[in-house]
Amino acid sequence: MKTEGLSHAVGGKRIMAVGDWQQTSGDHALVLGPSGSGKTTFINAVTGLITPSAGRVFVAGEEMSALGAAARDSLRRRTIGLVFQTLRLIPALSVRQNLALAQRIGTGRHDPAAIESLIARVGLAHRIDARPRTLSQGEGQRAAIARALITRPRLVVADEPTSALDDANAFAMVDLLFETAAATGATLLVATHDTRIAPRFNTVVRLAA
Ligand SMILES: Nc1ncnc2c1ncn2[C@@H]1O[C@H](COP(=O)(O)OP(=O)(O)OP(=O)(O)O)[C@@H](O)[C@H]1O
Ligand SMILES: [Mg+2]
Repeated sequence: MKTEGLSHAVGGKRIMAVGDWQQTSGDHALVLGPSGSGKTTFINAVTGLITPSAGRVFVAGEEMSALGAAARDSLRRRTIGLVFQTLRLIPALSVRQNLALAQRIGTGRHDPAAIESLIARVGLAHRIDARPRTLSQGEGQRAAIARALITRPRLVVADEPTSALDDANAFAMVDLLFETAAATGATLLVATHDTRIAPRFNTVVRLAA
């Protein structure tokens, strides 16, 4: 993932400025900054959910910021796994079905064995057929990580994965992200205002308020 002169303004007001930055494959990076500093805006630009008003974003060698909406969706589906702060699991589907849907959309295939093995890896084998609303907060996060990883994305992006968690669970969440990223060879990009987890990352990008 690489940015060049990246910033974003809305109505003439600059709400995110990252500039030039490069994340090498396998590097685990943290984007750290207070509320309102532009972390989610940055993630939206990297994942192609918005087109930045200035600068360029490259993901897996393709220029995300130069693509139209459909091509951005396709690049995101092929290369990125997203873990949302609010998880956004589909409530009517079981954990297994949530992963199956993501797998089908991302890869066009259905591989039940890969789904079962990833769910076991995040410690949810006993809850595989549960609906998301019956999961604990931590279990829901594990399910959301598994869903992001089922397509074996090259880049895993997580927005505020730990901010609602106590210390023990925050560090467990970081461990799980690192472990699962290592298991699938993914590069990790995490955005947070949670300074507790900063020492765990080899690269920290700070955004000012
Ligand atoms: N579409 C938009 N239009 C106008 N202002 C916006 C828009 N999106 C974000 N902002 C503003 O830009 C600033 C940065 O927002 P952003 O969501 O990127 O911050 P953040 O660092 O993720 O904050 P938090 O830690 O609270 O999630 C905020 O002041 C926000 O209100
Ligand atoms: Mg945010």
